[in-house]
Amino acid sequence: MAEREIIKEYSKDDLTVVWKPRKCIHSAICVATLPEVYDPNKKPWIEPENASVEELKSQIEKCPSGALTYSIKGETKNLEEMTDNTRVEVMANGPLLVHGTLEVKDTSGKTESKTGVTALCRCGASANKPYCDGAHKKIDFVG
Ligand code: SF4
Ligand code: FES
Repeated sequence: MAEREIIKEYSKDDLTVVWKPRKCIHSAICVATLPEVYDPNKKPWIEPENASVEELKSQIEKCPSGALTYSIKGETKNLEEMTDNTRVEVMANGPLLVHGTLEVKDTSGKTESKTGVTALCRCGASANKPYCDGAHKKIDFVG
């Protein structure tokens, strides 16, 4: 059975930061860009009130995995655009990022549809294969 998507939401004025932990590849780009908002040692780890809406939007658009998205006044910004033009990007020392729509068929024959960005494990250490779960960081994967 497909794992249910976990979705966490954090609001600032009309903007809601949406985080999907299963999509996060722990690139830490969010932490490096807005450390006053993203702090994995805090609970909650996202504090949107510490940045302007513009800063938050611009940072969220840089999340490489699509784990972060946002909605404005309840309307989701479609960062996960449906497109026929599927593109594969190799992330240095990290996963393969597949941008676009695709179907993933697992070893039992079950297929899952994916949109936006899908991070596929390249290091072999993920506990959630074929997807990246950030384990490449822990094993210091180089490649
Ligand atoms: S994948 Fe996105 S949410 Fe996860 S650490 Fe990187 S920038 Fe942050
Ligand atoms: S590439 Fe990220 S866990 Fe393997």
